[in-house]
Amino acid sequence: MFLIVAISLFGLFIIVLYVLSPLIAPKPFKLEGSHVMVTGGSSGIGQAIAVEAVKAGANVSLLARNQAKLTAAKADVEKYVKNKDTQKVQCISVDLSRDFSEVERTVKEAEQNLGPVQMLINCVGTSISGVFEEIPLTEFKRMLDINYMGSVHATRAVVPSMKSQQHGRIVFVSSQAGQLGLFGYTAYSASKFALRGLAEALHMELKPHNIYVSLAFPPDTDTPGFAEEQISKPEETRLISETAGLFKPDVVARSILSDALLGRFLCYIGVDGYMLTSLTCGMSPVISITEATQQVVTMGLFRIISLFYLDSFDRVVRKCKEKREQNKSKSS
Ligand SMILES: NC(=O)c1ccc[n+]([C@@H]2O[C@H](COP(=O)([O-])OP(=O)(O)OC[C@H]3O[C@@H](n4cnc5c(N)ncnc54)[C@H](OP(=O)(O)O)[C@@H]3O)[C@@H](O)[C@H]2O)c1
Repeated sequence: MFLIVAISLFGLFIIVLYVLSPLIAPKPFKLEGSHVMVTGGSSGIGQAIAVEAVKAGANVSLLARNQAKLTAAKADVEKYVKNKDTQKVQCISVDLSRDFSEVERTVKEAEQNLGPVQMLINCVGTSISGVFEEIPLTEFKRMLDINYMGSVHATRAVVPSMKSQQHGRIVFVSSQAGQLGLFGYTAYSASKFALRGLAEALHMELKPHNIYVSLAFPPDTDTPGFAEEQISKPEETRLISETAGLFKPDVVARSILSDALLGRFLCYIGVDGYMLTSLTCGMSPVISITEATQQVVTMGLFRIISLFYLDSFDRVVRKCKEKREQNKSKSS
C-alpha cells in the first residue's frame, strides 16, 4: 500500500514538474563548419576546448594577449583539425580586460576571416589566493577586470551578430570556487560568483533568440595557470581544494563542450562537481525533466553531505592555524 502511494506521489510530482517547467529543449547545435571563438585559448582549458572543437570540424579563433603563446597554441590546435582543406584556426592578440572598443574591433576582424561567431567560450581568467588582508587591493580589481569584465567584453561583442543569426552558444568558465567560497579565495571567488549572475540574467534574455548560455564549474585542472597558482597558495586552500582531485584539461574540455552543445546551463565535472552543482542549482534553468528531477531528489541529501565537508574544511583551517602558531612560538 505504502509503495503504491509513494509511486503515485512520485508520478504526480513528475507531471507537476513537467507542466510547470519551462522545458524547451534547445535545437541541436552542430560544430562542423561553425566559428568557435575561445578567449584564453592560448593555454590550459581554453586550448583544450579549441582542440576538441577542431576535432569536431569547427573553425576556431583563439584570443589571448601573448603573441608567442598564441602562435604555439595555434600550431598545436591545427594538428587536430578534421579537414585540413576547409578548416581554419586563427589567433589574435588582445587584452580582453581593458578597452571594449579594442575587443569589438578584434572580434570583427576574426569574423571577417571566419564568419560570424556561433559559439563563444569565455575561458579568459586568472587566479590569486592568499589571506584576505594580505592580498593587495589592486588584485581584487584585477580579478574582476580579467575574470568578469574580460567575459563581459567578449560576450558584448558577439551578442548582436548572434541575435541577428538567431543562433548561438555562449559559455562562461567559472570555477568550483564560484559555487562556494573557500579559504584564500576572497578575491578569486568573488569574480567567479559574479559570472553566475551575469550568466543567469543573460540566459533569460537570449533564450528566445535561440542562444543558449552555459556556466561551467571546473575543479582543479592541471594547466599552466594552475601550476603558477600553486606557488603561492596557502596550505589551507591547497588541502581543501585537493579534496575534489586534479583533472586533465582534455577531460574538462570535453565535458564543457558537450554540455554547451546540448544547451545545458550548469556544467559540472566529476562527482564532487555533480554534488556541488545540484546543491547550488538555485533557480537556474534546466533543459530536461531528468535534470530537474535529479536536482529536486538529491538536494536534501547533498546538503547533509555538505555539512560533513564543511566540518572537515573547518578542521583543516584550525589545524593549519595551530601548526603556524606552534612554528612561530618555536622560532621566537
Ligand atoms: N586550472 C584550474 O584549476 C581551474 C579551475 C577552475 C577554473 N579555472 C578557470 O578556467 C579558465 C582557464 O584556466 P587555465 O587554468 O586554463 O588558465 P591558464 O592556463 O592560465 O590560461 C589562461 C588564458 O587566459 C589568457 N588571458 C589571461 N588574461 C588575459 C587578458 N587580460 N586578456 C586576454 N587573455 C588573457 C592567457 O593568455 P595571456 O596571458 O597570454 O593573455 C591564457 O590563454 C580560467 O577562467 C580559470 O579561472 C581553472
